[in-house]
Amino acid sequence: MAGRIYLDHNATTPLREEVVEACTRALRGFGNPSSTHFEGAAARSELECARAQVASLLGADPAEIVFTSGATEANNLALRGAVRSSRVPRHLVTSRAEHPSVLEPAEALERAGVKVTRLAVDASGRLDPGDVGTAVESEATLVSVLWANNETGVLQPLSEIAEAVRARGALLHVDATQAVGKIPVRVDSLPADLLSGSAHKLNGPKGAGFLFVRRGLELEAWLRGGPQERGRRGGTENVVGIVGLGVACELAERELPGRARRMAALRDRLWEGLRTRVGALGRNGSTTHVLPNTLNVCFEGLPGEILLEALDLEGVSVSTGAACHSGSTVASHVLLAMGLSPEQARASLRFSVGHGVEEAQIDRVLDLVPDLVARVREAAER
Ligand SMILES: Cc1ncc(COP(=O)(O)O)c(C=O)c1O
Repeated sequence: MAGRIYLDHNATTPLREEVVEACTRALRGFGNPSSTHFEGAAARSELECARAQVASLLGADPAEIVFTSGATEANNLALRGAVRSSRVPRHLVTSRAEHPSVLEPAEALERAGVKVTRLAVDASGRLDPGDVGTAVESEATLVSVLWANNETGVLQPLSEIAEAVRARGALLHVDATQAVGKIPVRVDSLPADLLSGSAHKLNGPKGAGFLFVRRGLELEAWLRGGPQERGRRGGTENVVGIVGLGVACELAERELPGRARRMAALRDRLWEGLRTRVGALGRNGSTTHVLPNTLNVCFEGLPGEILLEALDLEGVSVSTGAACHSGSTVASHVLLAMGLSPEQARASLRFSVGHGVEEAQIDRVLDLVPDLVARVREAAER
């Protein structure tokens, strides 16, 4: 897509060349990692190399990594599979600003009789760790929170939340899908029991992800049908995707500090430019506790999806948090949970930078946006 400017890295990321090379090589090896012969052993060795790469990025033991098809599956496995002493948690505590891959399994658990508490976030999109502690009723509670919100990039006070959960002997699951590869995510310093991630959010391929499961925690398989992943996830592993995930994690570990600085500089250049050139706009969510790559902006008085289309026609890809259902636009539940009105939520766009984005591209976007905003606002007033 020569000439296009891709500012939607929270939706998915382009593959790194190193990942493409490793996946291409792995495609030629066809063994089943569960087979004991030569071909099987070769595939097993690829798998275990990737497991070590993921574990190293996270500060985990390789045996604590369960490969999945992505973060949706990892979140489902965490919520449905977390058992303590073979008891399904009777109580799930989560927030109103989670990803659907936590919200929807939570609804299913609720229908199956599990009590679900959905905590409010403040205007900056953050949870109060005190509220989390108060909500935990017993050891049979599972707390599930997003580390970094996919729409706003807002970071939760994870250390304080983890302490509050641990003090009550309950379990903590963290959806770290957007955080991995952008900020340090280390389970050797964060007492989380379960943590989800996905390859395609950090320049790896789609269809591969992981759930970190702390040693000693019993986890009931959700996908049954084989002994793979130490009985925690049945089904022949996606070796090619997992190899790509491993390389993406190795690159992230090596490059993280420089990567985060670079992304933050691009994001800040974009925000400063928008702030000075466009009137009546606001930044959604905390500006201090936020991913280095994410900017969520409310352009008052216009339908966000029209501005998105106008930008797309000019070769710029961004995103609205809003989902389209049967032709009508539903305002983002995350922005509504932060207290924005439905109109403000529909007027908001997410810009997310990442690998390959250049300063000159940000400047091109800054040249385009003021005029497009003026035209879309004018049309909306008619
Ligand atoms: C925070 C968060 N959790 C989970 C997911 C689901 O990840 P996957 O696409 O790997 O299923 C996403 C993807 O958008 C996400 O942003």
